[in-house]
Amino acid sequence: MRDLKKMLQDRYGLEPNDQGEYLNDTITVLLGRRVCRAFEDRELDPKLLNLLLACAQSAPTKSNLQQYSIIVVKNKAKQEAIADLIPSMPWIADAPVFLAFLGDVRRNRKLAELRGRDYANNNVDTFMNAAVDAALAMQMLIIAAESIGLGCCPISYVRNRIEDYAAILELPDGVFPIAGLPIGWPARDGYVSMRLPQDVIIHQERYDDSNLDTVVNSYDDRNHQRFPLPAEKQRHTDKYGVMEKCTWSENVSRQLSVPERDGFAAWLKSRGINLE
Ligand SMILES: Cc1cc2nc3c(=O)[nH]c(=O)nc-3n(C[C@H](O)[C@H](O)[C@H](O)COP(=O)(O)O)c2cc1C
Repeated sequence: MRDLKKMLQDRYGLEPNDQGEYLNDTITVLLGRRVCRAFEDRELDPKLLNLLLACAQSAPTKSNLQQYSIIVVKNKAKQEAIADLIPSMPWIADAPVFLAFLGDVRRNRKLAELRGRDYANNNVDTFMNAAVDAALAMQMLIIAAESIGLGCCPISYVRNRIEDYAAILELPDGVFPIAGLPIGWPARDGYVSMRLPQDVIIHQERYDDSNLDTVVNSYDDRNHQRFPLPAEKQRHTDKYGVMEKCTWSENVSRQLSVPERDGFAAWLKSRGINLE
């Protein structure tokens, strides 16, 4: 039995208003969405994979420019080589399929050449459109996959080892990783993670974050009550130590106090992508 109230309580940790009349199968899948980081040793039917990829390609795409590519990795050795780049996430190798979602500004550059036109859009807007296209395609695939009972987890950590990752996938100029996506049959149920209340994410008529501190404090409390953060999930304990109550906002601040992937812009530039 679908229970909208319970689903919204899980998502926000708050008492929801009753919006039960709008509940349908799609909304049920969306509200219950969660990452999967443990996979059964079970194949994925190639026909199902093709259907999921068609769902990915059904995503909106800026001006129908379709500036993304997806590499399907089923070869175990290759998948293990990718997993080996990220020792903290060995379960990446357990999924029957790994999908590499890529921004791709190469294809249309080549088309411009083939059609004898100038290419005058090597800029940050094109980069952003390609990244958004790839992300939307990935999310469409995730929703379709979860509606079937599959599980997946986006992996941006592949960008921590971008040179090696690009070499494994033989990425040419103009093609850049957004995230990887191991996909398969979940070995565990997982859980719905609690989100910030609409009060701080959704603004009415104009941007207003004057309530940030108060709203986040109570979110931190609710989140801590439901999911106290164990020491191994607390960020940079070498610098900041382990806290008994390490809240979401504390952990976010810890994470963002140390630069992540600050070589990415230089890598993109080396691959012919202009960020001006
Ligand atoms: C762009 C992107 C990159 C991510 N990268 C990783 C990753 O490298 N490793 C990982 O375990 N989870 C990764 N995640 C999953 C997030 O950690 C997860 O979505 C978040 O903790 C919220 O959990 P939920 O998706 O179950 O709601 C990523 C998610 C997104 C959208």
